Amino acid sequence: MTGVFDSGIGGLSAFLALSRALPHTDLLYYADTAHLPLGEKSEGEICALVLQALDFFSRKGVSRVFLACGTASAIALKKCKEKFSFPIDGIVETGCNAAANASKNGRIAVIATPATVASHAYASGVHALRPAAWVTELACPALVAAAEACDPSAVKRTLSPLLDSDADTLVLGCTHFPLLRQAIGETLPTMTLIDPAALAADALVPLLKEEAHEKGTRALFTTGDPHLFATHAQAALGFRLPLEGITKL
Ligand code: DGL
Repeated sequence: MTGVFDSGIGGLSAFLALSRALPHTDLLYYADTAHLPLGEKSEGEICALVLQALDFFSRKGVSRVFLACGTASAIALKKCKEKFSFPIDGIVETGCNAAANASKNGRIAVIATPATVASHAYASGVHALRPAAWVTELACPALVAAAEACDPSAVKRTLSPLLDSDADTLVLGCTHFPLLRQAIGETLPTMTLIDPAALAADALVPLLKEEAHEKGTRALFTTGDPHLFATHAQAALGFRLPLEGITKL
């Protein structure tokens, strides 16, 4: 059984991708919507909330966890690995690899939550692979709420600091941002968009295939309102989550 974590609907696209690719693997999704936005909290608060989610997964008997959340991956992955013995995957390393390989001119922009930007996890990761790369990081907290509300109207204004940038690659460093992909692509049409969570989910598929003896159960948990979670998910992903499959924690 594999647990997938995000603070809201951001990690759902990766969860659905895993769900489609692995019909026989048992999957749990934990949305900590009561504490969203995670990316505007302190490092200590972020670690405590992510560890709490992993405690929950551990009690459920997961054998692996995927942090489908840029903030959790940037801030809490190390602490999670210290505390739990099952494998835990994040999205930052995959995003850095993809960006370092994709950029032709070595100029890379990263948009993420304030906590992720403050950690410089993406910039450090890219520089470790491509020391001469120029990386600019922009905190876009407004886009988390915009993605939850499926409202792309804030995209152009929020990304205006990048309009004159000569970066050729843009990392969507928060898993909420691919939900606004169309508006982001229209605002910055010359940049190649990198979706670290989608790439990390693809990389997980072969590893999770080993768990094909499971029954393919799906269960979703939210610390917030299940109705709202289902409504936001449907608006953002066009996918109806059966309300009876969502449990309020
Ligand atoms: N989706 C999360 C991320 O990838 C965080 C959004 C938030 O709760 O601030 O960073």
